[in-house]
Amino acid sequence: MAVPPLRMRPEIAALPAYKQGRQAVADGYKLSSNENPFGPLVEIVEAVARAEVNRYPDATGPALRAKLGGRFGVGPGEVHLGAGSVALLSQFLLAVCEPGSEVVYAWRSFEAYPGLVTVAGGRSVQVPLGPGAGHDLDAMAAAVTDRTRAVIVCSPNNPTGPTVPAEAFTRFMAAVPSDVLVLLDEAYAEFVRDPDAVDGSRLIGRYPNLVVLRTFSKAWGLAGLRLGYAIGPEAVLDAARAVAIPLSVTGQAQLAGLVALDHEDLLSARVEDIVGTRTRLVAGLRELGFEVPDAQGNFVWLALGDATGRADDVFHEHGVVVRAFPGDGVRISVGEHESVTPVLEAAALLR
Ligand SMILES: Cc1ncc(COP(=O)(O)O)c(C=O)c1O
Repeated sequence: MAVPPLRMRPEIAALPAYKQGRQAVADGYKLSSNENPFGPLVEIVEAVARAEVNRYPDATGPALRAKLGGRFGVGPGEVHLGAGSVALLSQFLLAVCEPGSEVVYAWRSFEAYPGLVTVAGGRSVQVPLGPGAGHDLDAMAAAVTDRTRAVIVCSPNNPTGPTVPAEAFTRFMAAVPSDVLVLLDEAYAEFVRDPDAVDGSRLIGRYPNLVVLRTFSKAWGLAGLRLGYAIGPEAVLDAARAVAIPLSVTGQAQLAGLVALDHEDLLSARVEDIVGTRTRLVAGLRELGFEVPDAQGNFVWLALGDATGRADDVFHEHGVVVRAFPGDGVRISVGEHESVTPVLEAAALLR
């Protein structure tokens, strides 16, 4: 008997399943996921071990929300935790999209955006990056229509690296209607050294439609524990809380986040070290003749076009796993000090 195919949403059936980058090569370097190369602090390992895993976590993470609220000068109601900032992105999109809603974002940008928009029932409106591989905010504002429910601004932009200038962001916010949600995705904020870059922490309380998203995955080195947070107007965060899957931020993640904040000095020194490695990597690549966009995250971008597939193989042969975007370019995370030499040796073969 012929079994009819399961009925499902056609746009979901057409979505490619999430594909993680290549895993590490033995004795090599995994520079494909913008992870922090430093292992966890002992204090964090101890905090994780203390969590009572036979119990459900506290659903709203009040201690961590209060602590984060204190850092950003807001009350705990203006902080919302998620199992990674990708979970938060998903919640906000689910909260605002109806069938036919549009979500505007730059492209190329974070590879999760298109799928998250589709799953939320929205339609992606991708605005090409401008000169220097940064956001073209004027074009993004012009792409907003009365169908637009959200705009995602990624600063620094993953995978290309540049930040959005603060002054351009102010103009952009003035141009976007205040009933359109703006998600400022600052997953890499702590690595930014450009003094003119937008800094979401300075904009809190200024706009009724702005939510700033940050994560413990990158600078704070907790990617495996899944912890991100949103800061914004309480009523907007309440909508995300309403669609969140309950209890998905674990007790371990909450405890680790608290301990990480208590050890900010140590963790910031690691970030400084990564920024130093980034400077060496960018300088080495530019000396080889590559045009490297301003790298303000913990990664660098090489726009290699059709040579991307070959480059992926050459890096792999040198023990380096990069993230290749076929036909477009490769993103190389800033990792261990020792990874710079093999990256530059492989890159030299691509000139
Ligand atoms: C721009 C951007 N936003 C959000 C995320 C999600 O990070 P997480 O879910 O680990 O907090 C990433 C991860 O790579 C990212 O690059």
